[in-house]
Amino acid sequence: MRSHGRDLGWLAVSAMIGLPAPVLLFLVVASVPASVVAGLGVGFFAAAVWVTRRLAGVQRRRAAAVLGAPVPEPYRPLPAGALARLRVVLRDRATWFDFAWAACQFVAGLGSLVLSATLWLGAAQCLTAPVLQAVLPRRAGYDPLVLELTGRSPVLSWILVPIGVGVAVVAYRLPRRLVRGQARLAAALLGPGSTAVLAERVGRLTVARAATVDASAAELRRIERDLHDGAQARLVAMSMSLGVAEDVIDTDPAGAKALVAEARAGAGTALAELRDLVRGIHPPVLADRGLAAAVEALVLDTAYPADLDLRLDRRLAAPVEAAGYFAVAEALANAGRHSGATRVHVTVLDAGAALHITVRDDGHGGADPARGTGLLGIQRRMAAFDGTLRVSSPAGGPTVLEMELPCGS
Ligand SMILES: Nc1ncnc2c1ncn2[C@@H]1O[C@H](COP(=O)(O)OP(=O)(O)OP(=O)(O)O)[C@@H](O)[C@H]1O
Ligand SMILES: [Mg+2]
Repeated sequence: MRSHGRDLGWLAVSAMIGLPAPVLLFLVVASVPASVVAGLGVGFFAAAVWVTRRLAGVQRRRAAAVLGAPVPEPYRPLPAGALARLRVVLRDRATWFDFAWAACQFVAGLGSLVLSATLWLGAAQCLTAPVLQAVLPRRAGYDPLVLELTGRSPVLSWILVPIGVGVAVVAYRLPRRLVRGQARLAAALLGPGSTAVLAERVGRLTVARAATVDASAAELRRIERDLHDGAQARLVAMSMSLGVAEDVIDTDPAGAKALVAEARAGAGTALAELRDLVRGIHPPVLADRGLAAAVEALVLDTAYPADLDLRLDRRLAAPVEAAGYFAVAEALANAGRHSGATRVHVTVLDAGAALHITVRDDGHGGADPARGTGLLGIQRRMAAFDGTLRVSSPAGGPTVLEMELPCGS
């Protein structure tokens, strides 16, 4: 009942927001002939735009609260100088959509309120019909609706009671729909158009692509460095040991043997390093058995108790699997290194169009992407696929990383 009262309040405020629309639209229309009188029309128009933008701003916030999603402002940035501003405002598609919304809001706002009130009034009359029938004196001329309908028949007046129940149910349910309808109207007319949304998305993807290219270049440099300082250095040492062994093999067979053994040990280390390097680039379990098995292996390998809820039974594109794998690996590594958690829970859910990955620990919280490279790396990996990372880690915990990784199916 409280939420119903809130809905009715919402509708009443909406009706008030729509109320100035006729005046505003009159100002816009009047600004054309009024322009003849030195600048008066510009003032009319500017006033109408200013007020409409304020009202639209209020409704945008209210609609966002109802829909649970932000309704961004689509206005073009205003330059300095009155004339330049006027030109931008006149050419801005959002200006005209604002006026269209004001007109619709006027009708929808008042209409919704009147409809809701009429329904409750009708329900009240029908539900109390037998009482009204008995107590109201019959007058010549106009009678209340119930008495008109029943012609003062007590039997017929009882028939109105169940009808009243039906009307009351409609009156109770309708405002919620009207609120959502008006919120959607605001989102459709006051939010950015689909072209603007696409342009914003292209911008975001361009940044993500640049970051991905940077990240791969950095990764290449790391591999090059690891190879240079690791396997390559060991091969050089091996080659030198073998060269010396070759020189002394006839004169000092025992020394040569020791040098060969040293070279062999070096070869073993170089191999191990190469193996680690390859695992860091593309873990064999990921390539052979896919993301599900690879995540299972990661969870099994943790030094702390971790459980896994895995709902993924297909192979995904290799780059998507790699992004998911490294994201889970980093999240688990962070939980082990920073959180002090006693338990970690990993969820991997295949939702068709996207993979939802959640890593939650019951540690002390405080994860902050600005303080390292790991979480930023996850963010970058996700962004390359138009995916997202949400970090929730209040002081005292828990820490929850939620990742959405589009996998296009
Ligand atoms: N699960 C967690 N619980 C508590 N704090 C965390 C958690 N994960 C990350 N943090 C905090 O957030 C910071 C940033 O994490 P991030 O992974 O980006 O960097 P890092 O782990 O310190 O270094 P690296 O670049 O090697 O990953 C960490 O330094 C740590 O203080
Ligand atoms: Mg880290």
